[in-house]
Amino acid sequence: MRALITGGAGFIGANFVHQTLADRPDASVTVLDKLTYAGNPASLAGLDERVTLVEGDIADPELVDALVKDADLVVHFAAESHNDNSLNDPSPFVTTNLVGTFTLLEAVRRHQVRYHHISTDEVYGDLELNDPERFTEHTPYNPSSPYSSTKAGSDLLVRAWVRSFGIEATISNCSNNYGPYQHIEKFIPRQITNLIDGVRPKLYGAGQNVRDWIHVRDHNTAVWKIIDAGRIGETYLIGADGEKNNKEVVELVLELMGHDPEDYEHVADRPGHDLRYAIDNTRLREELGWEPQFEDFRTGLADTIRWYQENQDWWRPQKAEVEAKYAAQGQ
Ligand code: NAD
Ligand code: DAU
Repeated sequence: MRALITGGAGFIGANFVHQTLADRPDASVTVLDKLTYAGNPASLAGLDERVTLVEGDIADPELVDALVKDADLVVHFAAESHNDNSLNDPSPFVTTNLVGTFTLLEAVRRHQVRYHHISTDEVYGDLELNDPERFTEHTPYNPSSPYSSTKAGSDLLVRAWVRSFGIEATISNCSNNYGPYQHIEKFIPRQITNLIDGVRPKLYGAGQNVRDWIHVRDHNTAVWKIIDAGRIGETYLIGADGEKNNKEVVELVLELMGHDPEDYEHVADRPGHDLRYAIDNTRLREELGWEPQFEDFRTGLADTIRWYQENQDWWRPQKAEVEAKYAAQGQ
């Protein structure tokens, strides 16, 4: 089986490549990745000859056509993925998330290749803290940021290509991932690497915002379940019942790294900051029999902290630039 994995040098995509090679002896993998600031070939270092890395843009129709033509499966992770960046400059979000997805869909349509689309729970907007409802596959789309609106648009393109052109596609919308190889601009690795550098963690606003945390390996086992057994044209929500507010997460990072749990700073809040995300994963559990393996957040977080402590060469080159950018916006 020949899989084309877009964004395979990024956080979730790289973990997906590692897991695919370990679990699927019959698979060969081509990674298509533009190697933006978020893509790191070192995340794929040491993998066997079943992986080929092609540096290129998902919005390049000729390149995409040639790669899709040779694939049995496309798993589309590539995206501009960070909300804060989308507030500073939405332009690459429109090009990559919308035009890039369109380019892949057209190639998939021409060559009739199975396609899985990776998306986010942020397409549903946010929930009140006390809302008893969680997001389901039927929740109306209501995205808040340039990032989430371009992801929502990309999902709608996939749905239209299924209905109008009959492409064989599935979609998954997952909650917040944590684990190894996550870029240090993101919340958890930013705080871990700050503490390694002797800097206090930075909490946006009051820290009451809730995210529904899932280990990246659990996200990826769910993606494979959907590829193997999901119904064509359907959407599956992926989450592991991991709701926590940001203050709780920062306090746990501090505790696990041997610091006073109160020793963090409040910084400027994110404009339009979504309050709460929460996933109802009933369809995934009941229809596909998926179960998360990393149900203990404390243990998963401790492993993640160890990974950043042991892999400073991987993240250190980007730390100063990331922090300078945040400092310029009071964060
Ligand atoms: P990431 O930013 O770590 O990685 C994105 C990758 O895409 C990078 O390797 C980058 O070089 C590549 N890329 C960007 N633009 C490209 C282009 N035009 N052509 C080819 N490659 C390009 O992102 P991530 O956190 O790994 O997210 C992967 C996917 O999962 C995204 O679609 C994101 O929306 C989705 N998602 C992420 C989370 C999360 O918590 N991180 C949760 C749910 C869904
Ligand atoms: O819900 C899925 C989404 O999760 C994905 O679609 C996105 O690609 C991914 O980036 C993530 O989006 P968030 O905006 O929730 O993640 P981020 O890591 O940027 O922030 C998590 C929470 O932590 C959010 O409420 C903002 C807050 N935060 C973030 C940073 C970087 C802080 O309090 N301090 C920080 O320094």
